[in-house]
Parts: sequence; C-alpha cells; structure tokens
Amino acid sequence: MSDEMLRAPAEAKYADELDWLESVDDGPRPFSWRLSPRMVRLFVLGSERSDGLDREIKQKWFGDRSLVERAIVTLASDRGLLLIGDPGTGKSWLAELLAAAISRNSTLVVQGTAGTTEDHIKYSWNISMVIAKGQSRESMIPSPIMTAMEQGVIGRFEELTRSTSDVQDALISILSEKYVSIPELDDDNVVFAKPGFSIIATANSRDRGVNDLSSALKRRFNFVRIPVVTNKRSEAEIVRFRTTELLRRHRIELDVPPTLLDILLQSFADLRAASESASSDDERLESSLSTAEQIGVLEDAILHSHFFGDRTLRAQTLAGSLVGSLARRSPEDLAILNKYWHGVVEPRSKKEGGQWPDFLEGGRQAIATLS
Ligand SMILES: Nc1ncnc2c1ncn2[C@@H]1O[C@H](COP(=O)(O)OP(=O)(O)OP(=O)(O)O)[C@@H](O)[C@H]1O
Ligand SMILES: [Mg+2]
Repeated sequence: MSDEMLRAPAEAKYADELDWLESVDDGPRPFSWRLSPRMVRLFVLGSERSDGLDREIKQKWFGDRSLVERAIVTLASDRGLLLIGDPGTGKSWLAELLAAAISRNSTLVVQGTAGTTEDHIKYSWNISMVIAKGQSRESMIPSPIMTAMEQGVIGRFEELTRSTSDVQDALISILSEKYVSIPELDDDNVVFAKPGFSIIATANSRDRGVNDLSSALKRRFNFVRIPVVTNKRSEAEIVRFRTTELLRRHRIELDVPPTLLDILLQSFADLRAASESASSDDERLESSLSTAEQIGVLEDAILHSHFFGDRTLRAQTLAGSLVGSLARRSPEDLAILNKYWHGVVEPRSKKEGGQWPDFLEGGRQAIATLS
C-alpha cells in the first residue's frame, strides 16, 4: 500500500506494527482506543530489550518519555492536547503518530490559516444537492473534526494559532459541549461526539499568538511544550532515522558515511551557537536551524549524489547543500555563512583533517557561486 502513495500516513506505514501491538495488548483501553496507553507509548518511542517483546518496535519520535506520557494521558481526559514548539521540532509528526496509534486514523486534519472558517471545523453544504433535494444530512459535508466526533476518534488541528478567533470560539464549544448542532435542519440536527473523540492541535511558538489564545480555549487544552532537540545523540538518531526512510522510499542505495553525519551535526551546532550570540537579526541566519532543516540538507545532498554524483555522499556535496539551503537572504545569510566558513570551518579543517578539507572546499565554491 505504502508503495503507491507519495507519503503514506503513519497508520498505513506502520500497519504491521499496529496490528501486532493490538494482538498482544491486554492493557486497559480508554473508550474505543485501539491500543492501551502503554502500547501507544511503545509505538511512539519504540521498544527496548528490557520490554521482552517478540519483535522490535521502531522508535519513531525522539524526545522525552514523560512528555509523551502526558500527551497520551491528556487524550484520555476531557481536554484537548495542544503541542507547542519551534518550527521543525516534530509536533505534527507526534500528533500523527498518536492519532495513528489511538484511532488508526491520522488523516482527519484541519489546517489552520487566516482563511480557515467555522465551516472547516463544523460542516458545509453540497450546494447542488441542496438545490436538488433540499437541506438534509445527506447534503451536508461534515468537516474532518465532525467526522472524528461521529466516529469517536482523534481529530487534528494544525497551526491552531493561525486561525481567527471565530474559529477558535467554535472549537471551544465543540470541546466543551462535545456536540455540534445544525440549526438548518428540523430534525436529526445534533451531531454528538462518541467517546474516544478528542483533538490534537499544534501551534508554532514563533508565530505570534499562543498567548493570544482566549483563556476559555486555553482551559480546554493541556499544553505540552516540545523542546528543540539540542542533544547531539538524539539529533543524530532522528537524522539517521529519516535518512534511512528516505533512502528506502526512493530505493536509493547510497553510502552515508558516519563522519559526514558528524560534520553536519557539528556545523549545525556551531551555527546555532553563533545565532544565539548574535546581537541582531541581520547577523542571524533566517533559518531556525531545526532538526527538520538538517534533514532537509541531508536529503538534498543525498538526492544530488544519487542523480548527479557517483552514488557516494561526499563532503563537498554536503557543503553545497548546506550553503544552498541556508542561504535564503542575499547578502545577509551569505555573509554569515562566509564568516562561518572562514572563522570556523577553515581552522577546523587544518586541525582535524579527515573530511573537513573537502567540506571547506565545497562550501567555498557554493558561497562563491551564490555571491
Ligand atoms: N523529535 C523528533 N522525532 C522524530 N522526528 C522528528 C523529531 N523532530 C523533528 N523530526 C522530523 O522533522 C520533520 C519535521 O517535523 P514536523 O513537521 O513534525 O515539525 P513541526 O514541529 O510540526 O514543525 P512546524 O511548526 O514547522 O509545523 C519530520 O519529518 C520529523 O520526522
Ligand atoms: Mg507542523
């Protein structure tokens, strides 16, 4: 199945694991959950030897265990779950994994934008059917959130803070009353949420707005803050996990030397440190330098090596992708990268050797080309 989709949802991609977990799960399940909270946690964070399972469950999300537990417990409660964090910290991915494990459906998603209206979280009408047959449940188009209510499963709301306060207010009534009324209809005009329904929302802490959420809405959500991964080992694991997946998806056989992964992680750590100590935005790269950005750089380098190179990832290519991805503003970002290359990569290349000299050269060329 997953072979025929550009990107399969988590419940399809990990259907095997989910089937298996369901078959061995004897823990108590809240409502109509497909797995017990323990199994949901196992699915998200992966198994360890000490779990004594007959098969390995892959770790899919990397982060604090207590944070994942709090998220799961919230979903068994009366409140919605709001995942807040910087861009690229894996909020949406965690939301998808939780919905897949709990409901086997992570695709009931509403995307919050300035243009999101109440209809997008409640219902709208199929106009031609309304003209032909009048307003009825048949001619109604339920939103993904309403469908989640009817099925007693998890609905998702991405980028909650980008939607207007009208939409946020509508969400308050859904989360507190747990029903939606349809005043246009004379009968059968209330949709009640089945037990198991809940909402996972995400919000970007760089967007203005988490604080602007009304206190009524805040009370109906438990906030779980997702920190930026700064631990190099976890970050390496995330990058490796995504890379393996990418190679499999493209059916690419390519060697990614661990030393290059180290160079990538090191240069991101350096650039982050420089960004933190910079005194103005002009001296700071526009990129948030998140783990997701790192994955993007590596993906770019891998595809480049695969299509144009000799099927081995080389330090020059990696440097080129890094410069290409991070130099968004010209000349500011280029100047920052240039300074980094002269001030840090050059001395490091002299001192440590290895692949650094190639990395130095690749970056220099890329900067020269873009300048
Ligand atoms: N802690 C993590 N564990 C596993 N993968 C991660 C983690 N952090 C980031 N990623 C990977 O980074 C990519 C981007 O993550 P995701 O889209 O979930 O970020 P986000 O927090 O929702 O960002 P945004 O605020 O921009 O929407 C995903 O492919 C995800 O797999
Ligand atoms: Mg997201």
